[in-house]
Parts: sequence; structure tokens; C-alpha cells
Amino acid sequence: MYSTLYIKIRRFDGKKEWYQGYHLPYEKGRTVLWALTTIREQMDPTLVFTSACRHAICGSCAVTINGNAFLACKTSLDEVLETFQTPHLTFEPLKNFEVIKDLAIEWEPKMEKMEKVKPWLLPAEDGSKELGFKQSEEDYHQIAAPTDCILCGVCTSECNQLAVNDGTYLDPFILNRAYRFAVDSRDGSPEQHIQPVFENELWKCLHCMQCVSKCPKGIPLTEQIAYLRQESIRMGEVNNQGARHAFAFHDDVRSKGRLNEMTLPIKTDGLVNTAMRKVPFALRMIKKGKINPFHMPKAVEGIKGVREIYQYAKEVGE
Ligand code: FES
Repeated sequence: MYSTLYIKIRRFDGKKEWYQGYHLPYEKGRTVLWALTTIREQMDPTLVFTSACRHAICGSCAVTINGNAFLACKTSLDEVLETFQTPHLTFEPLKNFEVIKDLAIEWEPKMEKMEKVKPWLLPAEDGSKELGFKQSEEDYHQIAAPTDCILCGVCTSECNQLAVNDGTYLDPFILNRAYRFAVDSRDGSPEQHIQPVFENELWKCLHCMQCVSKCPKGIPLTEQIAYLRQESIRMGEVNNQGARHAFAFHDDVRSKGRLNEMTLPIKTDGLVNTAMRKVPFALRMIKKGKINPFHMPKAVEGIKGVREIYQYAKEVGE
């Protein structure tokens, strides 16, 4: 194992950026936060980073290491070295955040964005459901996982949609917060949490699963996004690209047990849009032998079982 680490940190003083390197004697069993604290206390008191609880509770210490987000107090250096197989580590602030100084990021714009989903309990608009504090154990379990979120920002840093989005798409932790109140048995207006999510590009999640795989609390964010999509459809939001795509998947799998790649774009975007936007691409694919326009997929061998699953889902109301 390595006796010394070389840690390169991206610095920012509010105007200019640079990288600064530190040689740190390696001690087995230490955390990333220990490395940062040691550098600041023993080598460079000007280094800025945030931390408070040291117990994965306050969510303030997340940073990226070699491009991947980690909670510094919960992540051991042993794990990091095992992952990257090198003693050369680059520490940078979380991605998809404004940077204040060095590794410290700005949360204010994110909090303002989160207000869109009304992250608090709401009464029923028609007064049919009274707000109260009592909740059964079963109902509590619905909100237990999303309530574990500590707002560390790791999911935001890893989100590939946010990296390319114009700023409308909501951060994964905001989607989690919308879900948390929408499924709370004490909330009277779940649609008031879901509608703003729908209006802010809910269907643009890329399903890359990066948020789920990196969340230090193991929150199943993509399952929550699937729920929010399903509920937006139930609320009548069916005339959009995402919902049409979901219906096209659903219908293809029910009828053949597999997708028909040729008709999927037409069902999703309509004939005119597909002709205008996707035909040149499709022609290139045909030319390269990637797709065969005359191939009509037959039903898979187990189609009877597939249809039984659909029937069962219909009966249990899913
Ligand atoms: S210091 Fe609080 S979560 Fe790491």
C-alpha cells in the first residue's frame, strides 16, 4: 500500500482557479475528511471546505475525487485508493453547483429551486382532508427512505441531465423531496408537489442511475422518479413526449414481448416530427446495417407469460 498520497485540490479565490498539490503521509483507516482537515491544519490554513457533524448527518462535506462525488466524512481513503488504484487523487468541488471558494459550494439557488415543489405538508384544497400529525407505522415507512436525505448534493453532482440542461430540470434531491411529501399520508394535495415536477422536465431523467449508485444514504431516486411520472399520467398529463414514449413501450411489450424500434419514434413523436428529425439519422443507420426497416419483430416465445403479467398488474391496479 502507499505510504504517501499526492492530493491535488482545485482552488478558487472568487476570481481565479488553479490546482495546488499536497503530499500527505498515508494512514490506513482514515477518512477523506481527515485528509482535508490534516492539509488545512498542518499544511495550508487557507484551504476552504465545509464540514460539521463528521457523522454523515449534516451533509456539508461532499466533494468530488477523481471526478466522482463522495461524502468526505463517510468515505475511507482505503476505499478511494481501492477504487482508483492510484495514490494521486484530485479533489474538486461538487459538479452542477456554483463554487464560492475552493471546495465550498453555493446552496442558496438550489434551495430557491426546491421551493417550487412546496416541500411541506399541504391541506386538501377542498378541505376534505384535515392536516394532522398522526400516522400509522405502515404510512411512516412510505416516507422513511426519502426522509433520510441529508442534502449533501452528491446526487446533483452526479446527475448527467443537470450537466447538459439549461437549468429547468430539478435536482434529484428536489425530486426526492417532492416524492417525500406526495406520498405522505398526512398531505392533502399530492398533486401540488407533483405538478411543478412535471412542469420542470420530469421526463428528462436519463436513467443513468448515477444518483442512485452514489447516494450515501441509498435512496432509490429513480424509483421515486418513476412514481412521479406514473402519478403525472394519472393526473392527466399524457400529451407529452415522455408519456407517449412510456405508452409506446407498454403497448409494444404487451403485444410482442419486445420493442419495435422502427415504430417507437413514430408513436412517441408522431409521423411528421419523426420524418423531419429522425429520418436522416435512420437512413444512416440503415446504410450501416444497424437497422432493417423491413424487419417486423415477432412475438417472443414467452409472450403468453408476458400477457399474464400485464393482466395480473391490471387486476392489482398497478
Ligand atoms: S461532516 Fe456532516 S455529513 Fe460529513
